[in-house]
Amino acid sequence: MSVALSGAHSIGRSHCSSFRDRLQPPANDNSTTSMDATYAGKLTQDCPAGSDPTVPQDYKTPDVLDSQYYRNVMDRKVLFTSDATLMTSPKTKELVEKYTWWLIGDFLWYRHFEDAMVKMGNIEVKNSTNGQIRKKCGFVNEPYTG
Ligand code: HEM
Repeated sequence: MSVALSGAHSIGRSHCSSFRDRLQPPANDNSTTSMDATYAGKLTQDCPAGSDPTVPQDYKTPDVLDSQYYRNVMDRKVLFTSDATLMTSPKTKELVEKYTWWLIGDFLWYRHFEDAMVKMGNIEVKNSTNGQIRKKCGFVNEPYTG
């Protein structure tokens, strides 16, 4: 499930501060979870010291929700340790590879992603009795009465 959900990192951006620690050597030590050295070099240019800009999560198709993210995971061209870690267990690695397959890859992933989002959306759902229906999703309603 987390392999499918992480595919959301196929869109959006990230602050350099969220992955800067992965840019330093041993970034080029070629271990499973380290970043591709060329990619790390490019990110180092895009993330100058002393500032914290954002970069695309999926360097190839940044604004398209697709399975390119999984190709990036296999190429070790992903930003976060949580992305790279998907290659460290045989089960999750197999799923990463499946999601990249030409033609069926996208469709399998879309299905799994949908299912996982619905499942996650059902975890400990609050209602107006045990919680609050927010008027704006990012803020509790004022005044907050608990
Ligand atoms: C394994 C757990 C996860 C970790 C550790 C993680 C970590 C992160 C981090 C560090 C950022 C960058 C934030 C920033 O620097 O501004 C980010 C961005 C993002 N994450 Fe995740 N994430 C995880 C799972 C998910 C899931 C499950 C989804 C959705 C289903 C998701 C969707 C996104 C999106 C869309 C962005 C881009 C947001 C933007 O462009 O402003 N992530 N994630």
